[in-house]
Amino acid sequence: MKHFFEENKERFLSELLALLRIPSVSASSNHKKDMIDCAEAVKNSLIAAGADSASVYTTKGHPIVYAEKIIDPSLPTVLVYGHYDVQPADPLELWETNPFEPSIRDGKIFARGACDDKGQFFMHVKALELMTKNDALKTNIKFCIEGEEEIGSPNLATFVVENKHLLACDVILISDTAMISLENPSIASGMRGLSYIEVEVTGPNRDLHSGVYGGAVANPVTILAKMIASCHDENNHITIPGFYDDVLEATSEERALLAKAPFDENEYIKDLGIETVYGEKGFSTRERTGIRPTLEVNGIWGGYTGEGSKTVLPSKATAKISARLVPNQSSQKITSILLNYFQKIAPKGVTVSATEHHGGEPYLTPIDSIAYKAAAKAIEKSFGKQPVPVREGGSIPICSLFEKELGVKIVFMGFGLDSDNLHSPNEKYDIANYYKGIETIPYFHQYFAELSK
Ligand code: BES
Ligand code: MN
Ligand code: MN
Repeated sequence: MKHFFEENKERFLSELLALLRIPSVSASSNHKKDMIDCAEAVKNSLIAAGADSASVYTTKGHPIVYAEKIIDPSLPTVLVYGHYDVQPADPLELWETNPFEPSIRDGKIFARGACDDKGQFFMHVKALELMTKNDALKTNIKFCIEGEEEIGSPNLATFVVENKHLLACDVILISDTAMISLENPSIASGMRGLSYIEVEVTGPNRDLHSGVYGGAVANPVTILAKMIASCHDENNHITIPGFYDDVLEATSEERALLAKAPFDENEYIKDLGIETVYGEKGFSTRERTGIRPTLEVNGIWGGYTGEGSKTVLPSKATAKISARLVPNQSSQKITSILLNYFQKIAPKGVTVSATEHHGGEPYLTPIDSIAYKAAAKAIEKSFGKQPVPVREGGSIPICSLFEKELGVKIVFMGFGLDSDNLHSPNEKYDIANYYKGIETIPYFHQYFAELSK
């Protein structure tokens, strides 16, 4: 297998680059055709890698690719989940090279989706090829690669519920997270959930002259800013009533375990170009993004934002606001808490409309399962170092539904880095991480089969 890998490395890379050239942006209706083309390309890559069958399933939204290779029904089955959709690339002017014309600089692939998640799920396609062409596959393997993860997976749940038999497996394996570094490998033991809302504040029925009316009429931008500012207290604790009610606090043992993961706060600060970190009192930086729920403003606008100045009292102001959730919080419940809060605190003189976007439940995976042990062993084998568990700050919305419907646990074997600029300009994936992933995945299948015996 090693020899085959060495012989085919260049091709493994160029095939990923071809996939990255398809602008599969799920959020934009302009890319509907690209989504179909990308799903087809993924399907073809799975057939070429040795899958028995691969199909593109249409949904109300973007298609889902399913493939399988069943070598022996009595062996354990691994379901690989990933997503071929990517986030929008804008602001385009901040990219050093075209986001959909991958560029290799300094051993890194720069392109939208390079790490999230094309570069990562494609490692599994290439690992499948390695295993099938070298007669080394030790498990059955299924693939479910969707095209709507970045918009909250609105149609995947229906597909899962309707195709439970097709998706039946012993474990779900996902490469869509990060590790600390190649020198300090880690495995995500949890993901946060998400509630996402939009708040629109309306004041006067039209934009007004700010000199003629300002001071006498509520300014929606000011009101919205005040409402948002009221959400945190001086300790950066969230003040919204009921927000923390269901939080399952991490135990001191778990906090101690998480604290073992190496983390250089000065490096972190330097990388971000900030003076210092900022967050909830009483928690470390890693804890703030891993085990604590948070509230963020993702965007805010209203009034005049064009060139120069215009004296205006705007009629409307809008913000997109999301909360990251931790175990035992319910996305539906927090969404309604947020919606109610913004409606309720609106002062007379404006009207507030708060609406819901997508969400997702938090997810925690046990670190004593066979699957986690197989992943840890696989990483130890290829990295020469035992991985440590970390709690990820991001979300993969389908996780809890997968577990509920398919009755199996998920193991995250991510090879990205926090510095890969996911969702940002100049997203990248190190070629070394890509290759390391392809090398590690076959060990996972081998150890999972062995430990399942
Ligand atoms: N792959 C990410 C989640 C992620 C990011 C995990 C960083 C670990 C580290 C995923 O594609 C993602 O971006 N999820 C969204 C979910 C949303 C759009 C519903 C997120 O976390 O914002
Ligand atoms: Mn992703
Ligand atoms: Mn993403």
